[in-house]
Amino acid sequence: MFCNALQSGWNCNKVWISALFSCQDRRMTESENQFLTRIGPGTPMSNLMRQYWIPVLQSTDLPERDGASLRVGILCENLVAFRNSDGKVGLIDPVCPHRCASLFFGRNEDNGLRCLYHGWKFDVDGHCVDVPNEPPRSKFNGQIKVTAYSCVEKMASFGPPAVCMETSCCSEKKIPGQGVTPPQ
Ligand code: FES
Repeated sequence: MFCNALQSGWNCNKVWISALFSCQDRRMTESENQFLTRIGPGTPMSNLMRQYWIPVLQSTDLPERDGASLRVGILCENLVAFRNSDGKVGLIDPVCPHRCASLFFGRNEDNGLRCLYHGWKFDVDGHCVDVPNEPPRSKFNGQIKVTAYSCVEKMASFGPPAVCMETSCCSEKKIPGQGVTPPQ
């Protein structure tokens, strides 16, 4: 449709037009298709998507603090989501770094997900916050971390003026009366 509009007489740059027409009848090659559709870790499209916030769950999917966790599959990664005792949502790698048990089956208690196998416990930032059987002054747990992704809960605002909900990770600029501008 865009190419047809150009043909009907829009005053556009010749280079633009020749570039568009040179590709309008060409089928996408297999490698171009893979470039655009592969979203596993390390792929170009995955790297692009990871520059943006991505809707993952509805808040109502995790209604209770210390409630049941959820399996989440996104961008070819298997993750586990949970709401901790303070109401924060965590999205972490479900593979326990001790013996690879699934943290999905862990106990969600006291601001962390505790592995059901030997009890290592992880907070919403992926830090290991408890390793049972370690002596009280042991710093062993400080060396252990699982992959964790930043999460925020936001709602849409359809009425003026648009107001950016304050979060520690929101860098948008607010202009009075003009809603929200994207980050520079
Ligand atoms: S496998 Fe998770 S604590 Fe051992």
